[in-house]
Amino acid sequence: MSLPASISNADQEWWRRAVVYQIYPRSFADSNGDGIGDINGIRSRLSYLAALGVDAIWVNPWYPSPMKDAGYDVSDYRAIEPVFGTMAEAEAMIAEAHAVGIRVILDIVPNHTSDQHPWFQAALAAGPGSAERERFVFRAGRGAGGELPPNDWMSEFGGPAWTRVTEADGRPGQWYLRLFAPEQPDVNWDHPDIREEFTESLRFWFDRGVDGFRIDVAHGLVKDAGLVDIDGLPFPLPDDTPEHIEHPHWDQPGVHEIFRSWREVADAYDPPRVFCGEIWVGRDHRLTAYLRPDELHTAFNFNFLMAPWLAGPMRETITSTLAAHATVGAPATWVLGNHDVCRPVSRYARPQELVSPGFPHLQAYLDLPADLAVGRRRARAAALLSLALPGGAYVFAGEELGLAEVEDIPLAARQDPIVAGTGGENLGRDGCRVPLPWTASGDSYGFGPEGGAAPWLPQPADWGASAVAVQEADTDSTLALYRQALAVRAGHPALGDGDLSWVEAGEHALAFRRDPGFGCWVNFGPEPLALPQGAEVVLASGELVAGELPADTAAWLRF
Ligand code: GLC
Ligand code: CA
Repeated sequence: MSLPASISNADQEWWRRAVVYQIYPRSFADSNGDGIGDINGIRSRLSYLAALGVDAIWVNPWYPSPMKDAGYDVSDYRAIEPVFGTMAEAEAMIAEAHAVGIRVILDIVPNHTSDQHPWFQAALAAGPGSAERERFVFRAGRGAGGELPPNDWMSEFGGPAWTRVTEADGRPGQWYLRLFAPEQPDVNWDHPDIREEFTESLRFWFDRGVDGFRIDVAHGLVKDAGLVDIDGLPFPLPDDTPEHIEHPHWDQPGVHEIFRSWREVADAYDPPRVFCGEIWVGRDHRLTAYLRPDELHTAFNFNFLMAPWLAGPMRETITSTLAAHATVGAPATWVLGNHDVCRPVSRYARPQELVSPGFPHLQAYLDLPADLAVGRRRARAAALLSLALPGGAYVFAGEELGLAEVEDIPLAARQDPIVAGTGGENLGRDGCRVPLPWTASGDSYGFGPEGGAAPWLPQPADWGASAVAVQEADTDSTLALYRQALAVRAGHPALGDGDLSWVEAGEHALAFRRDPGFGCWVNFGPEPLALPQGAEVVLASGELVAGELPADTAAWLRF
């Protein structure tokens, strides 16, 4: 038996250039036919991921959860949700991933627990003024009878960010803060129990071989001590906001000290463990403040994800990202999608001049006409662009198949709490979470075993055409493009961490070179783009026409 391509502990800087594949466990592969993806499903597809060529997987929360927000409502941080499997299976998955050269990043949710977490249940039972309530953010309401929320903060999922509890005497009592669903009470990071609970949870998983954590809502943990009203202050704060102005519950300066203490925990391991922050703060310098040498290693680059498919804005966001990251010596990441946003194929399918900036929910795109063929071309080009830029990259499961957002899931089948929270006005995030197609046909297109329960979200009728098995047999498929790109990237000294130099290629193009001998040319405009003399095309996202790069196409070049 030949030795597996197992990971090397000597390569401690792997995260500076890693391609990380995001697995939404509910939607990846269902091993036991209950309609929900699980850990054994992931194990059964590790060879697929190894062949794809990714360096690591990030697995969305797999802890015990009442699933009011698909696992982001955690009731125990150091156990496995039975729907997903067992601790033994999780440990086997970690070992098997490592054996095929793939590192494992988990998802920690430190801003809030589930309302079923024993600490929150204890807080409800213990009543106002108790030590148990100190672990969360309980306050009396405003108004004569306390019938109004304590302040004007709003939930990300719609409505006020506060829920009123019924006290033991049966009367309406205190309110608790919950920036997301009512079942996700925010914890109080000033409390030593909270600090200890999370560092212990980090150690628990690091001790089991986990290589790092993605940190959920990392910019939200600390709240203004006085819980002052927001009073209309927008967030993200506009670019010209004076530095002394802070939002009362996002990106408070106090969060940095928490992550410094987490870094110490991670650095105590050999090899050191790593972090990637989910940090929506807009301004680049506020993002890279989290990436100072003693804080987090990386953060998702959402400004890139939110940029329209237009040469000007793309170039601007790439330039400012690289400049800001250089100030702290951290590598950038390049992100096109995740489980919270409309899939890139469907975003880029819209007229890009009309896309309004802001959080890229499906809802923001619904009113705009879509041309999915155009969206697919652009998403393929964006893949080559993002994999050529300096730093690391994220691939959300299904991007390598060119999956589109499923826009027509019936309202009654939608599960995202945003749908209920907004009374159905926002269709939420289910459209990017539809279980993956593995085979051209079959009950669930190979997501689960034949004869199993229907997938937890309905799959569209044309899903089989995008299946892994179909694309494996097609050398022009998006899967084939990703495999080739990752293979070239892995062996190329110019790719991954480092820098780039721009080449002038006209108003509707981006072109850059990286040493040694690499170039990436991207055509955003309608007219074909000439490629530089003497360069050899290594890989292109679409067919060249008379040696030129057609609209919405990218090419990797060798000089
Ligand atoms: C993050 C997650 C999202 C979740 C929210 C609350 O934004 O990515 O899926 O709903 O946090 O935990
Ligand atoms: Ca299952």
